[in-house]
Amino acid sequence: MAVSVGAWPIIAQNIAHRWGEKTMTAQPIDNPVDPYAVPLDQIDVASDELFRTRQHWGFFERLRNEDPVHYCTTNEELGPYWSVTRYEDIFYVDTHNEIFSSEPAITLFDADPDDPNQLEVEMFIAMDQPKHDEQRKVVSPVVAPGNLKDMEDLIRERVIKVLESLPVGETFNWVQKVSIEITTQMLATLFDFPFDQRHKLTWWSDVTTSPPDGGETGLSEEDRRNELIECLMTFSQLLEERRNQPQKFDFISLMAHDPKMSQQHPMELLGNLMLLIVGGNDTTRNSMSGGVLALNQFPAEYDKLRNDPSLIPSMVAEIIRFQTPLAHMRRTALQDTELGGKKIKKGDKLAMWYVSGNRDEREIENPNEFIIDRENPRKHLSFGFGIHRCMGNRLAEMQIRILWEEILKRFSFVEVVGEPKYTTSFFVHGITELPVKLHAK
Ligand code: HEM
Repeated sequence: MAVSVGAWPIIAQNIAHRWGEKTMTAQPIDNPVDPYAVPLDQIDVASDELFRTRQHWGFFERLRNEDPVHYCTTNEELGPYWSVTRYEDIFYVDTHNEIFSSEPAITLFDADPDDPNQLEVEMFIAMDQPKHDEQRKVVSPVVAPGNLKDMEDLIRERVIKVLESLPVGETFNWVQKVSIEITTQMLATLFDFPFDQRHKLTWWSDVTTSPPDGGETGLSEEDRRNELIECLMTFSQLLEERRNQPQKFDFISLMAHDPKMSQQHPMELLGNLMLLIVGGNDTTRNSMSGGVLALNQFPAEYDKLRNDPSLIPSMVAEIIRFQTPLAHMRRTALQDTELGGKKIKKGDKLAMWYVSGNRDEREIENPNEFIIDRENPRKHLSFGFGIHRCMGNRLAEMQIRILWEEILKRFSFVEVVGEPKYTTSFFVHGITELPVKLHAK
């Protein structure tokens, strides 16, 4: 990582608190940085450390106000890139795929062609039309309304089982016991993956999203490559089996029965698997943790919810806005163009910072407040827009809705009793540890 946050001037204050997060959510920061003490042309928000320490909020607020389409030239690892930080501009980029391409990648990292451990995978989230549309169409029936309705009872049954296994009155990590467990079970359902081996899916998801140094997985580049090849082998075998079975509505079966997708190159198959595993995993997981945290940060909202559970659907949308599980998506300019008065050149990389657009005071009233009965709660950028808009958005909302319906029936309070820990990533915007104590109803 090119930029060391700690190298900037130290301002002894809790910046996370100042920029909209309550003190209890702040992680100890060794070297907090005042976003206004950094020269504008030195600001580089693509910093894992900035996100881990929750200092990103202040930098984004400054960029939205002073330089909403910001060019960063100081990140040696990523190279130059634009930060698009206002809601309106992000929406524009996301809905103009003829100008802003999703190829070759959807994060700011570029593949290193000389790295022997790099797997050059392809996935439809990082493809343009027409191939993107063809592939999305094959797998999207899994999350079509009819199939979601059919899955609802099974999801509820599994959520209840998880909630009833929890220790009331004892401290435990909500992320591990609830968010990860439920999303893992859901993933197994979507793939019709052997249920007793479902934890492999979470592991492969973590391996996929780990940064080049291995991050929380602790894997070397080579080990990471080997893990992903094992993932490919496992799924190739399942695909082969499903080819010879009648078609069902799970991702593998739908791919196995599609004439084109069943013939995918192994690296394309791996890429699409990684997409479907990660897409439905980290994002929903972090919304499940983020919701508990937000309700603890805003206790009056928790009271509102207890008094009126019919607010759950709008709260779910608000959780997804407030948490913004994916901090950014990248686009690459296909032509010279202009954005927010800045000249973007063909080939330039842009990060659409959803995490910033969702806190844009020009579009969202009191954006740093968590308000479960907002007037227009689905007005947020967390699922993106345009041809790549999240395929699983209704499924994600349904899972979180069911979770809260069942929590309210059993527990009067999911109390956060310790400091949360956050993902060390400027892509997955999440929580890794959330110590809680349950209070029975
Ligand atoms: C709260 C949960 C979720 C969030 C915040 C989220 C967010 C996103 C975002 C930001 C994109 C890219 C949008 C763009 O580029 O315009 C995306 C795409 C996608 N998501 Fe989700 N997602 C969530 C849940 C899910 C689930 C449960 C699935 C499971 C099927 C899923 C599958 C996908 C797929 C397949 C794509 C690629 C769509 C395409 O390229 O056409 N997501 N998601």
